Amino acid sequence: MAYALYLLFLLLLIPFSVVAQTNGNITVGASLSATDEASSWLSPSADFAFGFHKLDNNLFLLSIWFDKIPDKTIVWYANEGQPVPRGSRVDLTADRGLVLINPQGEELWKSLSITGAVAYGYMNDTGNFALKDGNSQDVWASFRFSTDTILPTKIMERGEVLTARQTETNFSPGRFQFSLLDNGNLVSYVLNLPTNYANEPYYHSDTNDDANSLNSGSQVVFNGSGYMYILRVNGQRFMLTQGDVVSTTYFYHRATLTYDGVFTQYYQPKNSTGNESWSALWSAPDNICTRSHMTQASGICGYNSVCRLSADQRPICECPPGYSSLDPNDQFSSCRPNFIQGCYDGPGPHSSEDLYSIEELPNTDWPFSDYMHLQPFSEGECRNSCLQDCMCPAAIFRDQTCWKKKLPLSNGRTDRTERSKAFIKVGKGNFPQSPRLIPTPKPRKKNQDTLILVGSVFLGSSVFLNFILIAAIFLGFFFIYKKKVRRIHRGESIVETNLHCFTYKELAEATNGFKEELGKGAFGIVYKGEIDTGSGNFVAVKKLDRMVQEGEREFKAEVNVIGQTHHKNLVRLIGFCNEGSQRLLVYEYMRNGTLASFLFGDSKPSWNMRTQIAFGIARGLLYLHEECSTQIIHCDIKPQNILLDDYYNARISDFGLAKLLMIGQSQTHTAIRGTKGYVAPEWFRNMPVTVKVDVYSFGVLLLEIICCRRSVDMETSGVEYAILTDWAYDCYREGTIEALVEGDMEAMNDRTKLERFIMVAIWCIQEDMSLRPTMKKDLLHSLV
Ligand SMILES: *[C@@H]1O[C@H](CO)[C@@H](O)[C@H](O)[C@H]1NC(C)=O
Ligand SMILES: *[C@@H]1O[C@H](CO)[C@@H](O)[C@H](O)[C@H]1NC(C)=O
Ligand SMILES: *[C@@H]1O[C@H](CO)[C@@H](O)[C@H](O)[C@H]1NC(C)=O
Ligand SMILES: *[C@@H]1O[C@H](CO)[C@@H](O)[C@H](O)[C@H]1NC(C)=O
Ligand SMILES: *[C@@H]1O[C@H](CO)[C@@H](O)[C@H](O)[C@H]1NC(C)=O
Repeated sequence: MAYALYLLFLLLLIPFSVVAQTNGNITVGASLSATDEASSWLSPSADFAFGFHKLDNNLFLLSIWFDKIPDKTIVWYANEGQPVPRGSRVDLTADRGLVLINPQGEELWKSLSITGAVAYGYMNDTGNFALKDGNSQDVWASFRFSTDTILPTKIMERGEVLTARQTETNFSPGRFQFSLLDNGNLVSYVLNLPTNYANEPYYHSDTNDDANSLNSGSQVVFNGSGYMYILRVNGQRFMLTQGDVVSTTYFYHRATLTYDGVFTQYYQPKNSTGNESWSALWSAPDNICTRSHMTQASGICGYNSVCRLSADQRPICECPPGYSSLDPNDQFSSCRPNFIQGCYDGPGPHSSEDLYSIEELPNTDWPFSDYMHLQPFSEGECRNSCLQDCMCPAAIFRDQTCWKKKLPLSNGRTDRTERSKAFIKVGKGNFPQSPRLIPTPKPRKKNQDTLILVGSVFLGSSVFLNFILIAAIFLGFFFIYKKKVRRIHRGESIVETNLHCFTYKELAEATNGFKEELGKGAFGIVYKGEIDTGSGNFVAVKKLDRMVQEGEREFKAEVNVIGQTHHKNLVRLIGFCNEGSQRLLVYEYMRNGTLASFLFGDSKPSWNMRTQIAFGIARGLLYLHEECSTQIIHCDIKPQNILLDDYYNARISDFGLAKLLMIGQSQTHTAIRGTKGYVAPEWFRNMPVTVKVDVYSFGVLLLEIICCRRSVDMETSGVEYAILTDWAYDCYREGTIEALVEGDMEAMNDRTKLERFIMVAIWCIQEDMSLRPTMKKDLLHSLV
């Protein structure tokens, strides 16, 4: 027993003895693999390790790190910061240096600049990993290819660049760089990604002396004692580190361009027990928010946002009141107004005081985007002038001067030393005012919800009948509206905005005696017809069967309303027939059929096409709800009622008919209109029907467009996925929205948009209709 324990003890000891015996030398032919066990090459003191660092996402980063401290801070990384999967390998070869390959054997990265055959590798106690030739000369060294961090004994030459990572845990190149320029100036600047266009620096050492080039900087030295300075050509030093530096014998030092753009020298005791972490010694610039002036970029933070400095000299980006972040996952995201900006010409109140208020942000400035300079001007005049000016989203006041600003606002900053005061215009009204645009959906009583949805599926008819209906309904209504149409038969010309009044006989001829059925809808059967015989001018003729008999005048009035409704995302009504009991409508013919057959057909349409279709539907609905002279509630938005024209533009059909059928009935409560699965809960609750019912249906439809599946699908999905709205809501809440677009790489790679679409959809299907957005421009904006 004791012997066994002793053996175990010896076994436990083995890894430590390996550590103890390392001399930093790595022989050619050695390799490391990315596995859970520590896999690294150590420096003689074991302060630094080179190898695969396991990241939180179960991937591995080929890198160099401080191995003795608890958080194993990474100081260098290969492969542009791209992590690799488990089972990847790095080999030390004589002819190609370090070679990183994935489990499939594909080469992902190799050390460049090999100037001779490699004899061995060496992990130095300085944190530099070098490849040496037979004469022990470096042929490659990690110090020559610094990523975002430098260590004592590193010298930066002119032209060398440090690039910040994207976030603390995403090591891909971000937009901040720190570089000793060829003219000797040490600078930090922001790149306009994806190009490498560099904006005006927000930090500069001013060690570029055009008149006396001997004064210019030639190197940035981080010496072995932990001091940093710029060495001028004439040998003088421009100290970067101020004051005394704690000894490198007892402290680790590093200097990093952090992902938020601040270059900072840190130290940490070597005998740290796990509690201490890195402390900052100095930073450049001292205040990144107030130092930046980028005329062609958003500044440190995104557009319309404001930068302020945290206690540890790092930037914090915040949206002003009334604005919200475009991408809550991105710290530097731009902000957009939660309300309609600009000169409002819709219905409702128009006075500035009714629509907007002015919020005051003390010690805040947006230094650019002026469109008007007013001086002398009082603070009250400035505030009021912006409020009354529909062009003015914000104004800055300082020293009896008022600058009116236009969007987007850039380089926003707030700081106690800032003497300006900002006035920002904020919309009142229905718009969510909280920093988050999308209200967090109320946890819903799932069973009840499911009941409603399932109930609505079976409403009034059997599943089978529903299926037949959905399959048959509206395979097209539709029609090509060419100018020729106006030459119909009698050569009679009609004014474009006027509807043509057909006789029943004409339409019977055009449809060849109502022979070819295109579809069967809630309002009657649709037939394909041809006007101007032989020239291929197809129309869709809808024979209304459920028309209430009375109401000749109302019919004409409604048809006129529909006829005056022109929008590129609506199917156009060309004419009608009103003869005795016969009522027919003649529409453009849409060659590419319904969105339903397009979405749920055999081949999935591309993500891009789907998003364009969603925009189209939103625009069409916005027009019906807000922009046409008579507001039209569609009441039956579903993929069978969206048609696709020759260019696959979404065209809403059947609008205006709900009203037609309601003639003579009470406006507020009617028999349930609309199609099961898409109807808003208020239909069931004896509540007034408003435009919000369309918003609800649009939300459901949007989810169908995102996922390419029907809102209720009992057959192919499991029980828990059968109701799309519930499933999508669960995925959104659990942060697993990828599951909704499984296998759709295009959608997955467009995560920001995907997430935005899902958020908008969930916003639309709020049970409480007052929480749903209106189809106003802000819903459209949040989609785009
Ligand atoms: C590492 O290897 C080189 C070349 O074989 C040798 O010259 C050097 O002494 C070795 N270093 C140590 C510490 O063993
Ligand atoms: C390790 O780094 C130090 C400091 O730069 C250097 O003097 C030394 O030669 C390096 N060791 C090897 C084996 O390259
Ligand atoms: C590093 O620079 C400081 C300040 O100039 C100097 O006091 C120190 O001796 C230098 N250390 C080394 C190792 O050169
Ligand atoms: C670490 O070293 C410093 C000085 O060398 C000493 O004062 C301190 O007590 C040590 N801390 C620990 C936890 O050993
Ligand atoms: C560790 O940190 C905690 C809280 O930050 C502190 O209370 C405690 O004294 C620290 N322990 C040591 C050994 O420094």
